[in-house]
Order: sequence, then structure tokens, then C-alpha cells
Amino acid sequence: MDEYKFEDNTFMGGWYIPKGVCDELKEYYDSRKDEHIAGQSGEGLNPDFKKCTELYIKPYEFNDIDRYLFYLQECLDRYKEKYPYADQVNSYSINSNVKIQHYKPGEAYYAMHMENSGQPQLVQRHLVFMTYLDTLDNAGTEFYHQKLTTPCEKGLTLIWPAGWTHMHRGVTNTVGDKSIITGWYTFQYTEEQYKNIQDANHRHGILHEFIKNNNQ
Ligand SMILES: [Fe+2]
Repeated sequence: MDEYKFEDNTFMGGWYIPKGVCDELKEYYDSRKDEHIAGQSGEGLNPDFKKCTELYIKPYEFNDIDRYLFYLQECLDRYKEKYPYADQVNSYSINSNVKIQHYKPGEAYYAMHMENSGQPQLVQRHLVFMTYLDTLDNAGTEFYHQKLTTPCEKGLTLIWPAGWTHMHRGVTNTVGDKSIITGWYTFQYTEEQYKNIQDANHRHGILHEFIKNNNQ
């Protein structure tokens, strides 16, 4: 696989998977039309924030995209070679929905955002992956702190950390249709560990409200 070179201090990685795999994913998306839904962000439905149509591929359906997952694993292996400490963490895997998203001209994930802002439903996210399924001018992804914009090139697969250091947004293209496949490597916790995290988040929320109300 060819590499799209990022400086090491970006903590980003990029490699090109075969274009044929992208075509298969687009056909798969088209074959499940009745399951397409309006795109949501981690915080819910807000078309000012993000506008697209998406298909959720649930973990028990991952067989349907096994060719993609094979090449994605190659990308992850290279990412870990580039950044060995990314792997010196709690165990993680792809165990939440993978999404294929279709952006019509004028649609995008407009808002600058991070993938893990600490909300209980997002807190398990370690790394993000995303593959462009089309090649389009001015339709890549802008990364705020890294001061770079990635190109929208069919097959280009990016991996980056889920936290605030990688604030990003989609470039809104006004010309063509853009599709991507994206998802997360998420930390695996036992039910008890996860409950503790949720309880801690809940307590933090109450404390935050209390401080806010007492400062008014
Ligand atoms: Fe994102």
C-alpha cells in the first residue's frame, strides 16, 4: 500500500487501499437503500452541524465488509509501526457501528469537532478511521491544530486519535457526490468498568451544573 505522508508530529497516518474495495462499499451502500438515515453527530441530529445520509453497519454485519476490514487492519498495523505508543493502551477493537456516509454537493460535516469529547457514549473511542470512496477537488478534511487539509482521494484511509488534539471538519464541496466509510477503534471495558466511567461522568455533570448555578 502506498502511504500518504504525514509528519510524525501530526499523529496521523494515511495509506491507500484498492479502489475496487471502495466501489464494493458504494454498491453495498446502494443495496441497502431502505436503511439509509439522516446523518447524526455524536450529540444527535443537527443539520447545521452535519448534513449527510448514512448507513450503519452493525458489528454482526461486519462479514459484509470483510475485504475493507482486511485492508483497514493493514493500515492499523502501519499506524502502530509509526506510533508504537498508540498500542500501549487498554485493549481496543472495532466494536461499534461502522458508517458509510454520502454527502451531496453542499453537504458536509460543517462543524469543527472531535470524536471523543468525553460524553459517556463517546468515551471509549481511541482512534478514528476514515476512507474516502470518491476522488473530488476541495472535499477533504481540515485539521485545525495540525494546520493541514487532507485530499479527498478514493482509497485514501486516514487514522488519527479521537481526542481534542484532532479537531476537524469536512470541506464543503459544491460540485460532486462524496462518500466515505468511517468508524472507531474503541476501548473494551468490562461492564463494571464501563458503569464506573458512566457514574463518574454523571457525577461530573452534576458538579458542573452545581458550579454553573452557583456562579450566576
Ligand atoms: Fe469527524
